[in-house]
Amino acid sequence: MAQVRGRFASRLGFLMAAAGSAVGLGNVWGFPSQTANNGGGAFVVMYLVLAFLLAWPALMAELVIGRHGQANIVSSMSLGRGLTKRFGALAGWAGMLTASLILAFYAIVAGWLLGYTAAPVSEALGMSSAASWLTTFDFTRNVTLTAVFLGLTMAIVVGGVRGGIEKWSTRLMPVLLVLLVGLIGYVLTLPGADEGLRVYLTPQWDRIFDADLMLSAMGQAFFSLSLGVGAMLIYGSYLGPEQNLPRLGVLVTLIDVGIAFLAGLLVIPAMYAARHLGVEIFDAEGLLKSSDTLLFDTLPALFAQMGGAGDVLMVAFFALMSVAGITSSISMLEVPVSFVVERGWLGRRAATLAVGAAVMAVSLTIAANFGALFGLVIMLTTQYSQPLVALVMCLLVGWALSRHALLKEIQSGAPDIESSLFWKIWPWYVRLVCPLCIALVFAHSL
Ligand code: PHE
Repeated sequence: MAQVRGRFASRLGFLMAAAGSAVGLGNVWGFPSQTANNGGGAFVVMYLVLAFLLAWPALMAELVIGRHGQANIVSSMSLGRGLTKRFGALAGWAGMLTASLILAFYAIVAGWLLGYTAAPVSEALGMSSAASWLTTFDFTRNVTLTAVFLGLTMAIVVGGVRGGIEKWSTRLMPVLLVLLVGLIGYVLTLPGADEGLRVYLTPQWDRIFDADLMLSAMGQAFFSLSLGVGAMLIYGSYLGPEQNLPRLGVLVTLIDVGIAFLAGLLVIPAMYAARHLGVEIFDAEGLLKSSDTLLFDTLPALFAQMGGAGDVLMVAFFALMSVAGITSSISMLEVPVSFVVERGWLGRRAATLAVGAAVMAVSLTIAANFGALFGLVIMLTTQYSQPLVALVMCLLVGWALSRHALLKEIQSGAPDIESSLFWKIWPWYVRLVCPLCIALVFAHSL
C-alpha cells in the first residue's frame, strides 16, 4: 500500500499545528476555572509540575509511535507481534473512537462559542432577534451552530496536512495570541481584577498535595496536551526523520502550559471584575459557579454592563475561544480521516465528508438527549478512554519497542541524545512511572 502521505512543510508548521491541537477549550476555559476551584495558585503549581513530569513524557511516547509508524493510529499502534500487536491495534481503534466522540461534544460547545461571537455583531447590525436566537439554549440553534463549526473543521481538514491543517494553524495561532494578550491587557485595568490576580497567583501551599487537586491537575494536563486519542500521534506521523522529537515535544508542552497560564491571567481577573460589578460568581456553597454558567452567563453579564467596549470585548473573547477550538477540532477529525484514507476506503474529500457526517450524527444524538448524554459522553471520553489509551501508548513504547529501536527513533534528528539526561530517565518514565500514575488517575475516577 504505497500511499503518498502528507508531511509538514516546516518545523514551525508542526509546532503551530501541535500547539494548536493542545491549546483549546481545555486551556482557555478548563484550566482557569479548575484553578479557581482548587485553591488558586496551588493548582497552578501542581499543574505545571505534572505537565512536565508526566504529560510531557507521555506526549513523547505518542509522538514516537506516530513518527515510527508513519501511518494512521491503528497501523502505528500495531507494534510488536501476536497478541501485543492485536491489542495495540484495538487500543488504536479505541483512541480513534474517542477522538470522534470528543469531537462530537466539543463541536456543540464550540458552536455556542460561535454563536456568542456573532451575537454582538448581529445586535450592532440591528438584528436583535437573531442575536437572542444565537445565545439562547435551544435544540435547533444548538445543532445549527454545531453543523457550522463541524463544517469549518471539515473545510480545513479536506485541504490535507499542508494545505489545510498546517496552513490554518499557522494563521490562527498568532491571532489567538494577539487576542489573548490584548484582552489580558484590557481586563487587568478593570476594577476588581487585582483581586482575581491575587487569587490566581497566591498558592495556598497547604492544599498543594491535596489528592483531589493532584488528580484534577493530572487529568487537566492530559486533556490539555490532547493525549490518548491519536491527535498528537497523527501529527507526529507527518514528521520526517530529520526532526528532533524531544525538542519539539518540549516546545509544544511549553506553549500549551504557557497559554493555559496566560488564559488564567485573563479569565480569573475577568470573573472578579464581574463580581465587582455585582455579578454573582459563586454558588451557594461558596464555590465558583459551574464553568458553563460562568462562560455563557457571568462573563456576558460583565460585558453587557460595559457598554460599547463590552461588545468589542465579547466578540474578541469568544472569537479567541472559537479559534482555540477549531485548531483542536481539526486534529481530532484528522485521526479517523487519515485512517479511512490510508485503508484505501475513500479519498480524502469523501473520507472527510463521511466522517464529518458520522460525527454530526453523534452530535445530533447528544443534542437531542442533552441532559442524559452530554455529561456522560464527556465523562466517558475524558476520564476513562483518554487515560486508558494513553496508558496503552506508554506501555507499547516502553515494552513493545526494544530499547535499541526506541533509541534509533529518538536519535534520528537528535544525534546527541544518547548521552543526555532525557535518555537516561525517559525510557523508565514511559515503562513504569507514566503507566502507574495514569492507572492511579483511572482508579480514582472509578
Ligand atoms: N487539548 C484540547 C484542549 O485543551 C482538547 C483535545 C483533546 C484536542 C483531544 C485534541 C484531542 O481543549
